[in-house]
Amino acid sequence: PDVRPLVAGNWKMNGTRQSLGEIKAMADGVHGMLSERVDALICPPSTLLYVATALCTDSPLMVGAQDCHQASHGAHTGDISAEMIADCFGTHVILGHSERRTDHGETDQLVKAKAQAAHEAGLTAIICIGETSDERDAYQTLDVLMRQMIGSIPLDATADNTVIAYEPLWAIGSGLTPTPTDVGVAHAFMRAELGQRFGEEGRHMRLLYGGSVKPTNARDLMSVENVDGALIGGASLKAADFLAIYSVY
Ligand code: G3H
Repeated sequence: PDVRPLVAGNWKMNGTRQSLGEIKAMADGVHGMLSERVDALICPPSTLLYVATALCTDSPLMVGAQDCHQASHGAHTGDISAEMIADCFGTHVILGHSERRTDHGETDQLVKAKAQAAHEAGLTAIICIGETSDERDAYQTLDVLMRQMIGSIPLDATADNTVIAYEPLWAIGSGLTPTPTDVGVAHAFMRAELGQRFGEEGRHMRLLYGGSVKPTNARDLMSVENVDGALIGGASLKAADFLAIYSVY
C-alpha cells in the first residue's frame, strides 16, 4: 500500500534544556530538506515538550510525548494527560513502549485505554509491540505480536490516529537488529492482521521498525517491504544522526 513513512525519535529519559539546540538543528534540517515523501517527529521528555514545539513552529518537524495517562485529567500525581500534550502542541504520543511495560507494569489493556485517550485528545498514538529474546528463541514472535496487537490497539484506530512500532526487546539499545528478512516477516504479518481487523484503514497504518536503528543500517532496514519508517532511540539524540536517518528517504 501507499503509506507515507515517518521517522520518529524517542529521547527516553535523556535531554535537558542544553539539548534544545539539537531539536532546533533537527527542525532546521528537516525544514531544509523539506521532503514531500516522509514525516519527521521528535519525542523529548515532557519537561521539554512545550519549548520543543515552540522551536518547531516554522518546521515540518512534529513533536510528541513518550506516554500519557488514560484519564483526561484528575488526581494522578506525576502523570500527564493526552490533552496536556495536545495543549503543548504535541501531535503524537508513544504508548506501550517496552520500557513502560517493564518499568511500570503496563498491560495491553492499559495501553489500549491510553490510546483511546490519545485519540480523544486528537493525538496520534504510536503503539509499541515486540517480543523478548526468550520468546524469539521459542519461535513465539508472531504469537506475541498478534496478542499485543489485539490487546493494545483500540477499535477506533485509523491510519491517521494510530502508528504501530515493532520493537524486538532484544534489539533495543543493544546494537543488534533482526535481519531484513525477519523484519519483513514480522511487518508482513502485522500488515495482514491489521488489514483483517481494520480493513483499508489497517492496510494504511504506518508500521515503524525500532531497535538499534543507526545511520549505518537505516537504509537496509527502511527498504524492507511494509516498513514505513523508524522509531529511533539512541541515534535520535544527535541531530546529525537523526537527519542522516531521515535523509534515507
Ligand atoms: O523507542 C526507541 C527504541 O526503544 C529503540 O531504541 O534505537 O536506542 O535501540 P534504540
